[in-house]
Amino acid sequence: MATMEQVRRQLEEAGQAHLLRFWPELDPEGRAVLLGELSALDLRELRQHCLSAAAAASRRKGLDEIQRDMKPMPPELVGSVCHSDPEALASWEQEGFHLISQNKVAVLLLAGGQGTRLGVPYPKGMYNVGLPSGKTLYEIQAERIRKVEELASEKCGSKGTVPWYIMTSEFTLGPTKTFFVEHDFFHLDKSNVILFEQRMLPAVTFDGKAILEQKDKVAMAPDGNGGLYRALEDNQILEDMESRGVQYIHVYCVDNILVKMADPVFIGFCVSKGAECGAKVVEKFDPAEPVGVACQVDGVYQVIEYSEISPENAQMRNPDGRLTYNAASICMHFFTVEFLKTVVREMEPHLQPHVALKKVPFVDEEGNLVKPIKANGIKMEKFVFDVFQFSKNFVIFEVLREDEFSPLKNSDTADKDTPTTARRALLSQHYRWALKAGARFLDTGGYQIPEKLSLSERDDPPVVCEISPLVSYFGEGLEVHMKDKDFTSPILINKNQVKALTNP
Ligand code: UTP
Repeated sequence: MATMEQVRRQLEEAGQAHLLRFWPELDPEGRAVLLGELSALDLRELRQHCLSAAAAASRRKGLDEIQRDMKPMPPELVGSVCHSDPEALASWEQEGFHLISQNKVAVLLLAGGQGTRLGVPYPKGMYNVGLPSGKTLYEIQAERIRKVEELASEKCGSKGTVPWYIMTSEFTLGPTKTFFVEHDFFHLDKSNVILFEQRMLPAVTFDGKAILEQKDKVAMAPDGNGGLYRALEDNQILEDMESRGVQYIHVYCVDNILVKMADPVFIGFCVSKGAECGAKVVEKFDPAEPVGVACQVDGVYQVIEYSEISPENAQMRNPDGRLTYNAASICMHFFTVEFLKTVVREMEPHLQPHVALKKVPFVDEEGNLVKPIKANGIKMEKFVFDVFQFSKNFVIFEVLREDEFSPLKNSDTADKDTPTTARRALLSQHYRWALKAGARFLDTGGYQIPEKLSLSERDDPPVVCEISPLVSYFGEGLEVHMKDKDFTSPILINKNQVKALTNP
């Protein structure tokens, strides 16, 4: 650790001497904490970071140029669960299962976010949205990994492993580790669950000064989900992947309750197109929906954010009536390990950070804690999809929103992307699977409950039927449990048991 004098000199050089403002009044413990924190910071890099962010903001391609140069993805680079030929879909799926059975596929979870909108004091993956089983997001994801491995083994005759890489941050690493240990890694082999940590960056004021959130603590935030690329390098994750023979990676966000872990169709599609990078998308129907769309600008693949697209482009429609820019990114990506190696070694420094203006609590000159009511600080973040621009072979794969995308972002006080909407999305999907498998649902009087297939996001399904991921990965294999059978809601279908639950 650097000495106090070294730190003081560096801080002065970096224009950050104010961080030692409360040094004289700190007790020995506080001094040790602050010195440790400041020694760990690369202050020269911080300065550089601030300068390049500001420069990037001014250099940014003008919105008019983006509109002029934007083009939708060419159809030959787009696969779709609805529009692609069923035979092609089946062969992509087969290819995906084959690669899984050969140990060539890993999943990588982005779980370093602070989840401020949800507002719970623990990592989002530990959240239970109130399913009858009480399962958390982490448990659901773990069980889907076990199931996809099992299906690949049944279909291809050899059992492969899908390693689970989990990127955490200072906020989420400790509790996530403890949670996995307490739950015995959800019956996965713990050597195949690899937790690693992304970097943190100081939050800075608009005039480039790092913010003290306590007298002995600098306000830090994770460096965005695009911090992935530095974290891969810092923790030698690509080397670990190569040592296991992994060639393809499915990257996803922690909060999508419907995530198809290591989705064989998506992986098989990307690999058979020779892509080095791919994105899953859902169809954007409403021009005003605040989502980023995958497209090309001047021949370069990228996600154009909602704030960057003009109303004219957002509203443009094809002759079939669909929006021209309809490929809404859902933070579910495919990468080859080879592509990531190039990104990590050559491209990462070229990624421009995004500037997010946030309310950052701070201690004022007198040492009082202030909770600002308007944005007072800048957090700099990189985004995981920013590397699409470096890809020569990029594809997108369109899936159905109701089957694959329901993110948990907000608490139940909001009306969108909440625990309620996530629970509803999962139970609606399981209800659809059960009906397709031939189940009949009866009310307590023994009368059949009328089927309701077109459910909106606001509708609860007419029955509660939760299906364990260990029983079905994506609706398959349910006939044996459900065909022509009568069930009374609520039920929970587990591996060797259909459990009738009592009504709440
Ligand atoms: P969000 O942008 O939704 O952020 O992250 P968040 O932290 O979950 O929630 P808010 O904005 O504070 O309410 C999308 C995904 O990226 C991950 C998150 O964990 C989530 O899976 N992420 C975000 C990281 O892994 N690291 C980061 O620095 C930021």
